[in-house]
This record gives sequence, C-alpha cells and structure tokens, in this order.
Amino acid sequence: MNAVPEVPANATAQEILRLGLEAAQGPVKLACSFSLEDVAIIELAQEAGLEIGVFALDTGRLNEETYEVADALTERYRIQIDWYFPKHEAVEKLEREKGLFSFRESLENRHECCHIRKVEPLGRALQGLAGWITGMRREHNVTRTDLKAIELDQLNGGILKLNPLLDWSEAQLMDFVQERRLPQNRLLKQGYRSIGCAPCTRAVQPGEDARAGRWWWENPEHKECGLHRR
Ligand code: ADX
Ligand code: SF4
Repeated sequence: MNAVPEVPANATAQEILRLGLEAAQGPVKLACSFSLEDVAIIELAQEAGLEIGVFALDTGRLNEETYEVADALTERYRIQIDWYFPKHEAVEKLEREKGLFSFRESLENRHECCHIRKVEPLGRALQGLAGWITGMRREHNVTRTDLKAIELDQLNGGILKLNPLLDWSEAQLMDFVQERRLPQNRLLKQGYRSIGCAPCTRAVQPGEDARAGRWWWENPEHKECGLHRR
C-alpha cells in the first residue's frame, strides 16, 4: 500500500500531480471522460512534462460528441487512450431481461447499469496501476465536498487517487480551457454542463446546478455512479 504524501494547502494542480506521481512509484493513469476537467489535466501534465497514461470507459451509451473530443485529444497530444468496454455477456443479459432504459425505473436498476458499464470495467482499468487521476472538483456535488487532493483508494486495492482540480471553480476551468483553446464537447454550447452517458444526461437551465442534468430524476445525494465510492 502506498503512503499518502502531505499536500500543502495552496498546492497547484501541477504540484499535486507531481507529488502524487512521485509517491505512487509506479504507473498512474488519468480516468478520462473527456470533460473540460480531464482535458485540462492532460494539458497541465504535458506542460509540466509529467508522464501519465489515459484510460476511458466506453459505456456503450456515450454521445457522439464525446467521441469527437477523444479524437481531437488524440490528434492534439498524440496520446494513446486505453479504452475499456463493459463485459458483453453482462450487457446482453441486462438488455434482454430489462430493456434499454431500466436505469430510469429505480435507483437499484440504475446502479446495476452503472456497475456493469462503468464500475466493473474501472476495476480492470486499474489493474497494475499505482494510482489514478480524476477530474473531480469539490464544487460538483454534495457528495464531493470533502474530497482530498491525494487520497488512498482503499476500495481499489489501496492505490493513490489524485484529484488535482479539487479546488478549481467552473469559471476558472472555463478560462483555462478558452485561453489555451483546448478541445471542448460541442454539447456544452447546447446548455450541457456535466456530461456522462447520453440517456442519463441533459442540458440544464440558467441558474440550475451544473449537475442538475445528470440523472435528473434522482436526488443530489444519489448522483454518483459508483466510480468514486469511498
Ligand atoms: S460520474 O461518477 O458522475 O460519472 P463525473 O462525470 O462527475 O463522474 O466525472 C468525474 C471524473 O470521473 C472524471 O473527471 C473522470 O476522471 C472520471 N470518469 C467519469 N466517467 C468516466 C469515463 N466514462 N471514463 C473514464 N473516467 C471517467
Ligand atoms: Fe447506465 Fe446511465 Fe449509468 Fe450510463 S450513466 S452506465 S447509461 S445508468
């Protein structure tokens, strides 16, 4: 098990990344959903000369616009994205037995779909890693207010989990992305502010919470898919 390094309160995202990579003493990859956060992390790591791998969980239900961002990133940074798919037997069983939209019927069904399409593939993506990086920010949701810059991920074998943008605001992130002309999901221009799977994400109205469009039929305290259980 890794030791979690001390992170100074005012550490920058690049300092958090550097500290985490040093402490992990092994391969560390970014979990990339192609959000503004994840793209900013790739840019920051490249600028600082930090070596991180990138993996993505293709749930089979992502928007075309999200794949376009993936393509733009590969082009811009010449990086390899390690894609992970869900187990086909599990998806076939789910769709045959419960249909294509079972996740709308109950929280239990939603968790089942997220488990098959995200959590199980995440477990495989993390095999052999000493740490992983996420684009989570404290501002995202009530479930994320107590995030740490570097945590021990007990549920995934005691590897390190780095959250370098934890204290960034949405405005700060937008400024960074625009200043550097980083690839952005075209759905953001249509009112989307947090993008996951297509059938579980919609645009939000001005004044609404950024994650109001994720699993919009659920209460805020349930808006996690299981990737970030602690
Ligand atoms: S979720 O748990 O609600 O779906 P969210 O969309 O806020 O997560 O993303 C938070 C972070 O989780 C992302 O910055 C990324 O690190 C990781 N993540 C979410 N979805 C994926 C995905 N499909 N593939 C890889 N990483 C992901
Ligand atoms: Fe299934 Fe929706 Fe979870 Fe995607 S976000 S895995 S479609 S329940």
